[in-house]
Amino acid sequence: MKDKIVLITGGARGLGAATAKKMAAAGAKVLITDLLQAESEATVASITKAGGEAFFLEHDVTDEARWAEVVEAIEARYGGLDVLVNNAGIASDGTPLATMTLESWRRVISVDLDSVFLGIKYAIPAMKKRLGVWQGGGSIVNISSIYGIVGSPGAAAYHAAKGGVRLLTKGAALELAPDKIRVNSVHPGFIETNMVKEGIRKMAALVPDISENEMMHEVAQRHPIGRMGLDTDIANAVFYLASEESSFMTGSEMVVDGGFTAQ
Ligand SMILES: NC(=O)c1ccc[n+]([C@@H]2O[C@H](COP(=O)([O-])OP(=O)(O)OC[C@H]3O[C@@H](n4cnc5c(N)ncnc54)[C@H](O)[C@@H]3O)[C@@H](O)[C@H]2O)c1
Repeated sequence: MKDKIVLITGGARGLGAATAKKMAAAGAKVLITDLLQAESEATVASITKAGGEAFFLEHDVTDEARWAEVVEAIEARYGGLDVLVNNAGIASDGTPLATMTLESWRRVISVDLDSVFLGIKYAIPAMKKRLGVWQGGGSIVNISSIYGIVGSPGAAAYHAAKGGVRLLTKGAALELAPDKIRVNSVHPGFIETNMVKEGIRKMAALVPDISENEMMHEVAQRHPIGRMGLDTDIANAVFYLASEESSFMTGSEMVVDGGFTAQ
């Protein structure tokens, strides 16, 4: 990863921040984008303090014009892009389909799926500028989910978006293979981040006589390995797909879920 130019969306915290730290520690130059300024700056500061190179740009991943500006900024600074991690995302709000508004459906599809299309679209010309620099070429890693593979009640829009990311990845991989741009998806199980803690709080509130801690334990036990994942479990997978070591992988789905979907 040394000297690779990396853009990670939603890099302020959670899986994006863990991935940014791992890549920067290996010598990559990392642009973090997010809506959260203070958290992003804290992540950049911790990378810089550890001797790595990172910077932050505010960026709503649903905003096409901003995508163009962000990619322009990374090109101006480094001359192109080697790795894009489409990580920014939001959860469904738990509303059942019968009462879900079209606005709420569209919000999840927009942040979790449209953004991945935009990211791929704007990364292509920037990655082409680096053709020949790396044997493995450019690498796009799309963060889908186990919920892009299997369903659950109360998260239909999230399933639709993450399932969309899974197959968008394969379509993009086939289209971009001749350009030496690889595209793969990662499918995390439940990982203890803000998103999951918030989701578990909501789930616990819906079930009588269960505390948040008990719900946390119950969700962890759905993973045959007997625990939830760590942010580093996902960062390691993304790192591999971004690196030269995965140069024969494209269009693949890497499931990192403690056995959740093997059942
Ligand atoms: N945590 C899990 O268990 C889990 C499991 C499967 C998939 N995922 C996926 O992993 C990714 C990261 O999630 P996380 O768990 O780290 O959650 P998180 O909430 O900690 O981080 C998500 C980040 O995305 C940012 N973001 C949200 N909307 C944005 C927008 N419109 N523009 C720019 N940034 C935006 C948030 O500000 C936040 O920093 C998401 O795509 C999520 O769906 C997470």
